[in-house]
Amino acid sequence: MPVMSLYVVSDSAECRRCRRPPRPLPVLVRLSCRGPLSAPKIYSLFPALLRHLPGPHNRLFEVFEKQKEFVALVVKEHEASLDPAQPRDFIDAFLIRMRQEQGDPHTEFNQENLLNSALDIFFAGMETTSTTLRYGLLILLKYPQVTELVQQEIDRVVGPGRRPCLGDRPQMPYTEAVLHEILRERWASRRKSTFRCCLGNSCEHLAQLLPQGTMVFPMLHSVLHDPDWFQDPCSFWPERFLDANGAFQKNPAFLPFSAGRRACPGEPLAQAELFLYLTWLLQRFSPSSPLPPAALDLQPQESGFGKQPPPFELILQPRWRLQGQALSP
Ligand code: HEM
Repeated sequence: MPVMSLYVVSDSAECRRCRRPPRPLPVLVRLSCRGPLSAPKIYSLFPALLRHLPGPHNRLFEVFEKQKEFVALVVKEHEASLDPAQPRDFIDAFLIRMRQEQGDPHTEFNQENLLNSALDIFFAGMETTSTTLRYGLLILLKYPQVTELVQQEIDRVVGPGRRPCLGDRPQMPYTEAVLHEILRERWASRRKSTFRCCLGNSCEHLAQLLPQGTMVFPMLHSVLHDPDWFQDPCSFWPERFLDANGAFQKNPAFLPFSAGRRACPGEPLAQAELFLYLTWLLQRFSPSSPLPPAALDLQPQESGFGKQPPPFELILQPRWRLQGQALSP
């Protein structure tokens, strides 16, 4: 996972580890936004049918080819500067394996698979985390009292003098609870189903026999909104993830990353990114909105596979000023 993650997170800023200047990652993002918005979702539900029908979903393949051309350029750059003793990211690791298995006619490590999997990881890891982060910020604007409690915890555990780090997480149960509730809320109101899958074995559900091979669409939304597991599931209430002593408590129905063999392999990375971004931001800034919290709308907007938060304005006010060598409020 760390090898994969470097590719996903390294490109947005200058990357010393990658031994190259920053590249125009936004090109890939722009390309992904140019496709018809709900087409991927509909296509992923009914590919056999839609393949034969005219409509905007056909543009998806055009966009996908352009994205692959872009990634092919990135791969070329990697090839030119590859040092097998020091793989920098997923692409390097893949290229090294391609070289090792060059003579093997059955190898899966070929150029086509490299382009497809690099794109898969990019989209699976980028849109999900960045949209959750944007949703998180909107939610924090809507609930300023929650934001204040997170800031109090950051001040107590981290203070103003250093950046928050992953080692702080176990000491910050309230922040952890807020991140879980953001993921539950954002995901619950976001994508209704995960990818389709087929039943490996027959099973019974609500007195119905579902034979092996039945196509199913798991509904994450219903799990994350299940009142048997989440009291008052439609409210934003981080305390549901805390026990009576204020310690963080897991909930087995918290499944925004799905479950089973096809569960999200990026969960630890996503959780780490969300924790670091949000705590760093709230350590340094107080977020506010030109609108009063009651006027902020959390209703998601339709877009592609998932739903995006509605556009909103965010004001970030610095919390600390440098006075001599010390930071003061
Ligand atoms: C907030 C962030 C994220 C959320 C909520 C999320 C959620 C999910 C979900 C629900 C699935 C589908 C599982 C299924 O269909 O059963 C999935 C698949 C996947 N995710 Fe994530 N994800 C996030 C971040 C990431 C990151 C950061 C990466 C990698 C860098 C990643 C890589 C993947 C991949 C490769 C798959 C496909 C797995 C497969 O098909 O077997 N995700 N994710």
